[in-house]
Amino acid sequence: MAQNWTPTSWRQKPVSQVPDFPDAAALAATEAQLATYPPLVFAGEARNLKKALANVSEGRGFLLQGGDCAESFAEHGADTIRDFFRAFLQMAVVLTFGAQQPVVKVGRIAGQFAKPRSSNIERQGETELASYRGDIINGIDFTPESRIPNPERQIMAYRQSAATLNLLRAFAMGGYANLDNVHQWMLGFVKDSPQAERYRKLADRISETMDFMKAIGITPETNPSLRETDFFTSHEALLLGYEQALTRVDSTSGDWYATSGHMIWIGDRTRQPDHAHVEYCRGIKNPIGLKCGPSMTADGLIELIDILNPANEAGRLTLICRFGHDKVAEHLPRLIRAVQREGKKVVWSCDPMHGNTITLNSYKTRPFERILSEVESFFQIHRAEGTHPGGIHIEMTGNDVTECTGGARALSGADLGDRYHTHCDPRLNADQALELAFLLAERMKGGRDEKRMLVNGWA
Ligand code: TRP
Ligand code: MN
Repeated sequence: MAQNWTPTSWRQKPVSQVPDFPDAAALAATEAQLATYPPLVFAGEARNLKKALANVSEGRGFLLQGGDCAESFAEHGADTIRDFFRAFLQMAVVLTFGAQQPVVKVGRIAGQFAKPRSSNIERQGETELASYRGDIINGIDFTPESRIPNPERQIMAYRQSAATLNLLRAFAMGGYANLDNVHQWMLGFVKDSPQAERYRKLADRISETMDFMKAIGITPETNPSLRETDFFTSHEALLLGYEQALTRVDSTSGDWYATSGHMIWIGDRTRQPDHAHVEYCRGIKNPIGLKCGPSMTADGLIELIDILNPANEAGRLTLICRFGHDKVAEHLPRLIRAVQREGKKVVWSCDPMHGNTITLNSYKTRPFERILSEVESFFQIHRAEGTHPGGIHIEMTGNDVTECTGGARALSGADLGDRYHTHCDPRLNADQALELAFLLAERMKGGRDEKRMLVNGWA
C-alpha cells in the first residue's frame, strides 16, 4: 500500500478547483451518507481494465475514451445514453475491424459531473456570479441561488451515475452490443451523412464474416465475445470529498479502490505533485489518467509518474496529452523522450479537444480540422519516436448537435446557434465522431502494415 496514505490524507494538502461549501455541516452529513451507499463499480472490474490497458501500453490495442464534457441532471434520458452508446460502438467497431486491434472502451460517463474552471467568476453584462462548476456542485442557471454549492447535488450525481451505469451494463452485456446488430447502430441522422456509405460497407463486411463464422459453428450464442463487450466508465476525480466517500477496501486484495468509476483522471490544472488531487490518486489502485498540457515539463512528468506509479506497473497510468494542434510538435517529443529514457510504462493517449478551443460568434467551439490535425501529429510523432500511439480521449455525444465546426457536413460558425446544447465544452456530434474513427483506423492500420513490412524485411 502507498506509504502514509489514507483516503483522507488529501485533506492535509492544498486543494484547488474545489469551492467552499457554505454549510460545512450539511456537506459532512452528505459525505457520511454517501459513504454508506453501495459502490458503483467493483475492484475486479478496475483490475480488468488495468490489464487491458497494460496490453495497450505494450503496443497491443487502442484505448477509446469519450463522452460528455459534463453530464447534466437535466439531460438524463434513456435516449441520450443509448444514442451516445451506439455512436461509441460504431467508433469502436470501425477501429477494431479497420485497424484489427483490440479496442479498450472507456466512457466519460456515469460520474463526469465536476468541472475545473479558469475563473471563479462568470460575468454577464454588469452582473458577476460564482462560476458554474458542474451539476454535482452548483446549478448552471445564472442566478445567485443556483450558483451556491449544494451538497445535496452529490446524492443526485451518485444516483444518476448508478442509473446510467445500469443501462450501460444492460446495453453492453444484454444483446444491444451483439455484432449481429452492427447495421442497426446506424443513427437516423448519420444515415444520410457522408460517413453512412463508408460505415455500411464496413458493416456489410462484418456481417459477412459473422455469416461465415456461423457456418462453421461460431455464433453469438456459443461465443459471448461476439455478443458482449466490456465497457468501462471514467471521470475527472475533481470533487475529492465525493471520491473519498466512495473509496472502499477491496476484500479480496485488501487494497483501496475508487468505486465511483473504473478509471479516474487528474486534470491539467490540479496535477501539482504536493497537492490534494495527486495525493488522493496515488493511494487508490484503479487505472488513472494524467492530463498533460503545454506547461508539463519533462522533469515534472517523471516526478508525477514516480509518485503515481512507483512500481512502474503497466496499465496503471495513461498520459492524456492535450497540447493543441499547433503545439503538439513542440511538447510531445520531449515528454516521450523523458518517459523512454526513464523506462516508464505508460499508455499514450491524445486529447485533441482541450487544446483546440476557440471563440466564434461568441460560441466556444473547436474546428474539426484542428482536432484531426492534432491527431495526425500525435500519430506521426509516435511513429518517429518508435512509441505506440495508444489511444484517444474525446468529448462527444450521440446527438446531432452543432458545437464543433467543420467535418464532412462543413458546419460553419453561423450554424453553431442551431443546436448548441453543451453544458460546458463543445463536443463532436455522432457524424464527426465517426469521421474521426475512420481516420484513426487508417492511421492505426498504416502503423501495423509498416511494422509487418519491417518484420518481413520489406522496408
Ligand atoms: N467483444 C469484442 C469487443 O468488445 C467484440 C465486440 C462485440 C465488439 N460487440 C462489439 C466490438 C461492439 C466493438 C463494438 O471487442
Ligand atoms: Mn471539457
